[in-house]
Amino acid sequence: MLDIANLEVVYNSVVLVLKGVSLQVPDGKVVALLGPNGAGKTSTIRAITGLLDLQDGEATKGSIRFGDHDLLGLTGDAIVGCGIAQAMEGRRIFVDLTVEENLIAGGYRSTPAAIKEDLARYYDRFPVLKDRRNRQAGYLSGGEQQMLAIARALMSRPKLLLLDEPSLGLAPKIVADIAKLITEINQDGVSILLVEQNAAMALDVASYGYVMDTGKVVIDGSSAELKEDKDIQEFYLGFGGESGEQKKSFRDAKLYQRRKRWLS
Ligand SMILES: Nc1ncnc2c1ncn2[C@@H]1O[C@H](COP(=O)(O)OP(=O)(O)O)[C@@H](O)[C@H]1O
Ligand SMILES: [Mg+2]
Repeated sequence: MLDIANLEVVYNSVVLVLKGVSLQVPDGKVVALLGPNGAGKTSTIRAITGLLDLQDGEATKGSIRFGDHDLLGLTGDAIVGCGIAQAMEGRRIFVDLTVEENLIAGGYRSTPAAIKEDLARYYDRFPVLKDRRNRQAGYLSGGEQQMLAIARALMSRPKLLLLDEPSLGLAPKIVADIAKLITEINQDGVSILLVEQNAAMALDVASYGYVMDTGKVVIDGSSAELKEDKDIQEFYLGFGGESGEQKKSFRDAKLYQRRKRWLS
């Protein structure tokens, strides 16, 4: 299980962007992490994968545990060794390398025999990558690049896969393909933390979800509960609310509701 408790993250020694985040990803589950731009979702992922220092960021409080491992303080490479892999926001693939070279790079900790086995396995699962194996990755479509980013992450044989907005900028049909893939990968036994702004897709795939806003978790619950939540419907699923009305921040809406409850 991934267990994040009271995590605080600061950038440039001053800007506090995570203000005590706690969340869990039990083994074998898909958990959604939702929230608007700037909420702190990517910073949470960076803290898990040990990449904060590349951004002049630092976890100043709290803990991140994965099984018996205490991840804070480990290098990114050691964290991959614990069984955690990610497909980063913005599909960071090596655009000048071929599809196959990208995949091999993802298996950099594996033996040649394991790489060969995994290539066969993922070409089977991602036929489009097989067709394009010798093509330069920069020439793939957005959806193909996303699949490559996911397949490359799987090449390290992770127990936990972190996906940062895999549906961003993709057409609905491709988003549905990605959603199906995420479910299949999970059925192979990989736990998944799925960061999304596409709440509808994420809650279909995940069994549990957390909603973040301005550096905090503001709601969490089972996907079924979250789908029923009026605020989530209004702010993330596009139901309710006056059309044309300025979208209030999620937190403002919660504060307003809380005040209403106290006053009534
Ligand atoms: N490298 C950085 N240096 C300084 N501030 C950052 C950096 N990366 C993100 N931030 C700030 O941290 C906050 C959370 O950002 P981020 O984690 O990227 O949110 P999300 O992924 O939910 O959009 C934002 O206010 C953002 O401007
Ligand atoms: Mg982000």
